Amino acid sequence: MKLRNLFLTGAMLMSIGVSYADIPVYLDDSQPLEKRVEDALSRMTLKEKVNIIHAQSKFSAPGVPRLGIAELWCTDGPMGVRPEVLWDEWEQAEWTNDSCTAFPSLTCLAATWNTDMAELYGKSIGAEARFRNKAVILGPGVNIYRTPLCGRNFEYMGEDPFLSGKMATRYVQGVQSNGVAVCVKHFALNNNEINRHTSNPIVDDRTLYEIYLPAFKAAAIDGGAWSFMGGYNLFRGEHASYNPILMNQILKGEWEWDGAVISDWGAVHDTATAVTGGLDMEFGSWTDGLAGGMSNAYDNYWLANPYLNGIKEGKYSEDELNDKVRRVLRLTFRTAMNRNRPWGAMGSDDHKEACRKIGGEGIVLLQNRNGLLPVNPENVKKIAVIGENAIKMMTVGGGSSSLKAAYEITPLQGIRARFGKDFDIVYERGYVGDTLGEYNGVKTFQDLRDFRTVAQLTEDAVKAAENADIVLFFGGLNKANHNDAEDSDRKSMDLPYGQNELIEALLKANKNLVVVNISGTGVAMPWASKVPAILQAWYLGNETGNAIADVLSGDVNPSGKLPYTYYADLMQCGAHKLGAYPGTPAKDKFGNDIFDMPYNEGIYVGYRFIDKNKLKPTFPFGHGLSYTTFKYGNASIDKTSGKESDTFMVSVPVTNTGKRAGSEIVELFISDSKSSIDRPVKELKGFSKIALLPGETKTVTFEINRDALSFFDAEKHAWVCEPGDFEALIGASSADIRTKVKFNVSGDNDSRLTFNK
Ligand code: BGC
Repeated sequence: MKLRNLFLTGAMLMSIGVSYADIPVYLDDSQPLEKRVEDALSRMTLKEKVNIIHAQSKFSAPGVPRLGIAELWCTDGPMGVRPEVLWDEWEQAEWTNDSCTAFPSLTCLAATWNTDMAELYGKSIGAEARFRNKAVILGPGVNIYRTPLCGRNFEYMGEDPFLSGKMATRYVQGVQSNGVAVCVKHFALNNNEINRHTSNPIVDDRTLYEIYLPAFKAAAIDGGAWSFMGGYNLFRGEHASYNPILMNQILKGEWEWDGAVISDWGAVHDTATAVTGGLDMEFGSWTDGLAGGMSNAYDNYWLANPYLNGIKEGKYSEDELNDKVRRVLRLTFRTAMNRNRPWGAMGSDDHKEACRKIGGEGIVLLQNRNGLLPVNPENVKKIAVIGENAIKMMTVGGGSSSLKAAYEITPLQGIRARFGKDFDIVYERGYVGDTLGEYNGVKTFQDLRDFRTVAQLTEDAVKAAENADIVLFFGGLNKANHNDAEDSDRKSMDLPYGQNELIEALLKANKNLVVVNISGTGVAMPWASKVPAILQAWYLGNETGNAIADVLSGDVNPSGKLPYTYYADLMQCGAHKLGAYPGTPAKDKFGNDIFDMPYNEGIYVGYRFIDKNKLKPTFPFGHGLSYTTFKYGNASIDKTSGKESDTFMVSVPVTNTGKRAGSEIVELFISDSKSSIDRPVKELKGFSKIALLPGETKTVTFEINRDALSFFDAEKHAWVCEPGDFEALIGASSADIRTKVKFNVSGDNDSRLTFNK
């Protein structure tokens, strides 16, 4: 029986007189997955088993050629499919068919608070990965936004575990509907880029379970993720990628997860602990290249010959290896050898549309005094666009998420396309920031050099502002090192390149100033009280300029809300206020230098810290405005109406009281009035995005269950729902609660909950 015949379907085989009986079980996709895995495993030699669990190139693992078990190709992730690199180098392979759709950053996706958008995103990016024949896309990133300085916040989904978990779940489902696996990263506690290989977060169990694990758990269990990536950092002295607590005890033990753990690239440092610590596949360890052709450098990986020899010498049992191989086979059968996969698509009109839609829905209108936005053709004829971020292409840069986009519409191009016909548009640079436009050999080919002095740049910008009816300033960060980039945190919350001074100068020149901040994390806005309109735009991918112009013009009514707190300064953030960043020098078990980083703020991350300390951030978690207004009615509880036993419903009517159609994100927080342990003032436990026509009212209903009321009791190592008084707080942001309703819960953890109004 020739293996190529095996790619025929069962019906086709039968029609040519070949029966399933001729097909080895592992290749017969009518057989249960586990049976196929066991069959394949039983046919593999020890060497083949070891081969399958480590890389053969920068982004692929070899499979088992003798048995027709496919190679496994991975790609970054998580905002588009990375261009092809050389076999054993980070440099470009210079393919001409690998330009992708660059989607908005994951912070933007989170800012839509729309799980349908998460699924659309996942489906679209998964289809691109599928088209490029990738089995695994290295994302989504769901590490919690612990500090605004973290260089990779833009790749994550904000500060709240509930919001990130809900968004990640649908993203995962969307991607995997293509027969492409997600690789949820970076598990866990990879919350900073500074010292990323040597940070040793010291985190208590309650904080771990309540804040840092739930999004991963949702992706694993609710989303059904097929693979996970371990972080570079340590946890309790052991590297995350093979940390027995994270991988064995929690992910594979408590969550009963059957997927494969992939190391972060180069995150493995030792065979013995990698073997026992729950790692299944090793990627990206340093190799000495393949130039000599005498030996395969990948044989030197920790999970390659050192492991093989260790097994032969009796140091390691084959049982552990078999478990790893089973997981890798499962991953392969679900993806690369899944004959029911769709074909995928790349750069399609659908993806373009998805990109623009997600971008438009994720942009957050932070402030809009005197109805300055949308741009009003009745009193605006001349628009001054100022700032480097209006012209800078941003899909290139930032680290491993850098992309080779098929095209990129800059904000200025988007504005010219939308407003150019009816308005006079002038552009001035204002400041010079990063002129590089290159990452790993992918170039934007933009020449952004400008040799004017700061004084001259400012003077020219001020002149343009003075002569305009409205000024649109585009600034923020740009994915250069220390400005939203992998492997480096920001040095402060301040905007770089003298932007604050420039904004002050522009304000003096023209009071109709709109600041469009492009970043994936919070920046200090000392001028926030003076600037009438502020928009948070993110890295939006191909359709950046169009998505922004949609919102500025009012073609799209903004409906995004912040997935993280916009601190006024670093001291409003628990990690910084309590001196728990970036850690103190220590030693690991081998005597290597590491940095202990006690998470002193515990569960008080983001708005939980703000609430506890009664602080006033620049903009609170969950905040975002619309060009229309919404009125919330009174919340009511129906204690009998839960869809499942042990749940009940809280409802609130919401009315669009303005003149435009718009969407509102309604947020539900739960507050435990009295508890045996210290709890946050309130925690997000539900959200719903509703579209309303002018004058229309819809009732939003939330289902409240035991999970929404529980805390993690570290002593019992269990979630506990204590009887007592609670309050459901419903509002437009964490600082804008519009209606509340009290209820009382009786019945302990083991009995049915009873809800009393
Ligand atoms: C990053 C991962 C990425 C991998 C492969 C690492 O440096 O931390 O997020 O997926 O490289 O590019």
